[in-house]
Amino acid sequence: MAKREKRKAYNPRHRRYPRDAELHWRYIVSITTGDFRAKITATTLLEKKQRGEIITVLTAYDYASARLEDEAGIDMVLVGDSLAQVMLGYENTLPVTMQEMLHHTRAVRRGVKRAFLVADMPFASFHISQRESLRNAARFIKEAGAEAVKIEGGEKRARLIARMVDAEIPVVGHIGLTPQSVHAMGGYKVQGKTLKAIEQLMHDALAVERAGACCIVLEGVPREVAAMITHELEIPTIGIGAGPECDGQVLVFHDLLGLTFAPPAKFVRRYADVGAVISNAVHAFKDDVKSGAYPSDAESYHLPKETLAALQEFGERKRAVRV
Ligand code: KIV
Repeated sequence: MAKREKRKAYNPRHRRYPRDAELHWRYIVSITTGDFRAKITATTLLEKKQRGEIITVLTAYDYASARLEDEAGIDMVLVGDSLAQVMLGYENTLPVTMQEMLHHTRAVRRGVKRAFLVADMPFASFHISQRESLRNAARFIKEAGAEAVKIEGGEKRARLIARMVDAEIPVVGHIGLTPQSVHAMGGYKVQGKTLKAIEQLMHDALAVERAGACCIVLEGVPREVAAMITHELEIPTIGIGAGPECDGQVLVFHDLLGLTFAPPAKFVRRYADVGAVISNAVHAFKDDVKSGAYPSDAESYHLPKETLAALQEFGERKRAVRV
């Protein structure tokens, strides 16, 4: 059977439907949810890929940044486990806990109205047993208001992804340079540079798609490889250090702002130098407090006139009694 025809065939294990039935189903979802442009869902992300419309994604870890991103029209907000480094000061993503991820996801939930909200499953929260992994994933949806969870890993996570999707938990895949595998990979290295590695990445991408993931992050892979995977998959690919052919792009919020302390990776584009803005403001505050320039009279509260007069009269009477 030709490859395209093979794709059309309904395979209950892969949850594939003939293309027409799939489109019909998506159309019904769109009209029953009202204005489908208003809320971004897994379905609208897929529709964007089909229309060739680029998908914008940023990480967020708190209410204020989430709200600013949402109001700017970012399609997907990811509470990444990069919060370990950029918010909590850990050396890598490995130590961040379920509690910390849930806490930050709740804050982001309060700031996001329109974007698709995804929470990263931290290291060891989906490695021990399928039961525990499902329980942890469900906590992000039930307790923190996430709309999907992100899981690092390809082929070897496919069964778990399928179980989660079966339990109505949308999943975002993540392959290539997976930071939770930093020790296994021997550092943060671009992946997929040999023919063998490219073949494995393709297997990983297809396995994640077949397992039912709604989209997939491609991190730290050569542009050419990301382009091949993007072409091959029906679900959207979201690139970070994976070149411009991906269906969407994601950056870590603090990288985009210039609010990090190490030299940025090659793929990072800094849109602001917020680190310098904050540092200048903190220094200026310190100098003003030391010199007495802050707070001024205009920045102070004052007593009402009558209370001030009464207080002065009271002081005068007290002095008179003492004399
Ligand atoms: O944790 C994170 O910020 C991520 C993105 C880099 C995709 O996983």
